Amino acid sequence: MNSPQEITITRPDDWHVHLRDSDALSKVVGHTAFQFARAVVMPNLKPPVTTTEQALAYKARILASLAKVKLPIGLKGVGFAFEPLMTLYLTDTTTAAEIEKAKGAGIVAVKLYPSGATTNSDSGVTDIRKTYSALEAMQRLGMPLLIHAEVTDSSVDLFDREAVFIDRYLIQLRKDFPELKIVMEHITTEEAAQYVQAGNQYLGATITAHHLLYNRNAIFTGGIRPHYYCLPVLKREKHRVALVKAATSGSPKFFLGTDSAPHAAHLKEHASGCAGCYTAFSAMELYAEAFDSVGALEHLEAFASFNGADFYGLPRNTGKITLRRESCQMPEYLAFGRAKLIPLRAGEALPWRFVS
Ligand code: DOR
Ligand code: ZN
Repeated sequence: MNSPQEITITRPDDWHVHLRDSDALSKVVGHTAFQFARAVVMPNLKPPVTTTEQALAYKARILASLAKVKLPIGLKGVGFAFEPLMTLYLTDTTTAAEIEKAKGAGIVAVKLYPSGATTNSDSGVTDIRKTYSALEAMQRLGMPLLIHAEVTDSSVDLFDREAVFIDRYLIQLRKDFPELKIVMEHITTEEAAQYVQAGNQYLGATITAHHLLYNRNAIFTGGIRPHYYCLPVLKREKHRVALVKAATSGSPKFFLGTDSAPHAAHLKEHASGCAGCYTAFSAMELYAEAFDSVGALEHLEAFASFNGADFYGLPRNTGKITLRRESCQMPEYLAFGRAKLIPLRAGEALPWRFVS
């Protein structure tokens, strides 16, 4: 399969997405549900989703919000059979009992944000050793730990924070919990790709579409471009190339996680702009473009539809989606209440179109 005009693959899942809450949720949930059968929903709300009750209530709000979303005209045959997969936000005080309760209630994973690493991470972990009783329960129950793997040490260069996290924390953590399933979320570096590739079956990683398509020049081309700013930040070209190689390698350790993170345009186009790229609107088109760029479309299905499910121990989806090589114009912006939401590639033409 070198350059097919159309590809049909098993319906994919998004193993890392931010759906937010309330009005913002209602504007974005349909985009994710339209393309994906399931999505792992990040718990970094304000306040964060730290308990099973909060996660179940959030799930109910997501489904209620989705029930009100109208299908685009002409896509009547496509439904929103969508399952949000819920997560807990790990804190220094998360108990083993809470983990057991979460597992029993169908919560699929727990997210570790180092305190201060990113959006709404203030309640995150200040010292990983404080989480060891929770991690021990997760290891016992087979519940994955999803890690925002960046150190927060301000003396470490921003572009090195992922690689340093591996050396300072991840190596020891994996020794202490050899059978804990760990996902390095949204990896951005050659070091992370190599580390995950060399790991055992308990280690996996998600990769975003924007980290496959862009390097850090995108943030500074012709002026500062806040819609390309996310965390972990885009890196040098050699890292982008390493991520494409990992994603298209056919290795089951890498899977799709958009990290689609909606922020109102005025909060990104700001003196202290928020981190996050909004890719849910055209996620599969962007991934198809990235895989096609290296002639590796035959590996897209495993990356998008099989590897994540297998890692989490969940059944693979049965439906199909079709993408066609056909120019697809992106809107300049999307409605976001009284604000605007600028999707990645706003106003540009994408080479792939989501057909059904
Ligand atoms: O760019 C990002 N945005 N990275 C994260 O880790 C969080 C996310 C958000 O929630 O906005
Ligand atoms: Zn994220």
